[in-house]
Amino acid sequence: MTNQIAHQKSQSTLPPSSLSYLIFLFPLVLLLVSPEPSSGSPPAADAAGPGKVLFEKRCAGCHSLDQDREGPRLRNVYGAKAGSTPTFKYSSALKSSQITWTDETLNKWLADPDSLVPDNDMEFHVPKPDERADIIRFLKAASGK
Ligand code: HEC
Repeated sequence: MTNQIAHQKSQSTLPPSSLSYLIFLFPLVLLLVSPEPSSGSPPAADAAGPGKVLFEKRCAGCHSLDQDREGPRLRNVYGAKAGSTPTFKYSSALKSSQITWTDETLNKWLADPDSLVPDNDMEFHVPKPDERADIIRFLKAASGK
């Protein structure tokens, strides 16, 4: 008697559709179990993600990646010397600053351009540290660094 009940029970906990659950869950389990794809350097789309949107919101009024506007083109700015786009007319302050654009210098520039380079021509800053970090990551990726 008890055997029969147990038998029925085990059948009822395994409905025919459970196979499709397994098929559905299997890739998810694999994703959770194997850390490889998400470790190491993040995929390019992720790296560009929030920074790209912020760049378009905050910077694109004056900058584009590939054309000079009110500000110089910025595609290869990361790792470059400040004021080194030959087609753009910089302030002499920025041109003679001897700065190389890195995470650190870009962070200072975006936080407060005037304290990094007094008398420069960029009248804009980004007060939020996390926004600066995202924008710098975007510029770095756009520069292939
Ligand atoms: C109101 C216009 C304006 C906005 C907005 C602006 N910039 Fe600029 N930017 C300039 C100008 C003008 C210069 C050149 C400054 C100079 O010659 O002193 C410049 C220069 C720069 C430089 C130095 C480039 C080089 O070749 O050395 C960087 C980097 C930069 N901007 C990044 C940004 C980023 C990132 C943003 C958005 C968060 C931004 N700027 C927003 C006008 C702007």
